[in-house]
Amino acid sequence: MKTPALLALALLAVSMHASAQDAAGTPQQSPAPASGTTQVKLCDNKTTVQVSKDAPKTREEGQKISDSLMAQWKAANPGKDWVQAEVEAHQVVTPEDNSKLVGTGQSSTYGAVTQQDVQVWNNETYKMAVYGSTVFHSSDELGSDIAVSCDMCHPRAANTHPETYPKFQPQLGRVALLRDMINWCIEHPVRGKVLAPDDPKMRALEAYILAQRKGVPLDYGKR
Ligand code: HEC
Repeated sequence: MKTPALLALALLAVSMHASAQDAAGTPQQSPAPASGTTQVKLCDNKTTVQVSKDAPKTREEGQKISDSLMAQWKAANPGKDWVQAEVEAHQVVTPEDNSKLVGTGQSSTYGAVTQQDVQVWNNETYKMAVYGSTVFHSSDELGSDIAVSCDMCHPRAANTHPETYPKFQPQLGRVALLRDMINWCIEHPVRGKVLAPDDPKMRALEAYILAQRKGVPLDYGKR
């Protein structure tokens, strides 16, 4: 292994130890960020990890950062089921099949619904969700400077709970829409580029996250 990689690993190990609990279970204070390191914060605005600025920007390294943040978060939230079992596939849920509308009237302007109409609606909608999946799974698409992507902690968008928005999010100090929370998570922990609400990547991320929860009843405000 090359020296910078070793250094980065050592730093990660040191900082993970420092912010974890000691043998007696006493929480320890995180030290102030050392120079040459970057403090990466989790979506909860509390959990942190120090990463060497020289750490290689690889998916492997990004996964290590995500795992160490999640290990701390899980220790602090023992009751929460994070569904790690979903890791294997990137399957994107398919949209509603509207075939039963074929032959029914739309309006005098458009005439009856054809099989081709239904196909176009379906393909276009699915394409948007699949693009969202690509962004969700790619630290490059997200512009992460530490090679972290959403799927590292949210396999198949698990635990993103889009059906609970809008809701008050303490880390934002206001009522958040799903896109506000997506942007917050792009800042912390992904350390990527915040997206404008109408950015095609933001629209696709929303589409993908919502697609994965198809069939779940809306429950805005739920915490
Ligand atoms: C390092 C792990 C990690 C990464 C990477 C991550 N998240 Fe999260 N995310 C979490 C955790 C843990 C929470 C729960 C925080 C809490 O309960 O306060 C969370 C919360 C959320 C929520 C709110 C869920 C709710 O119940 O309201 C959304 C939405 C979300 N993340 C989306 C994303 C998106 C989109 C990305 C990528 C841009 C991302 N996350 C990257 C760990 C992560």
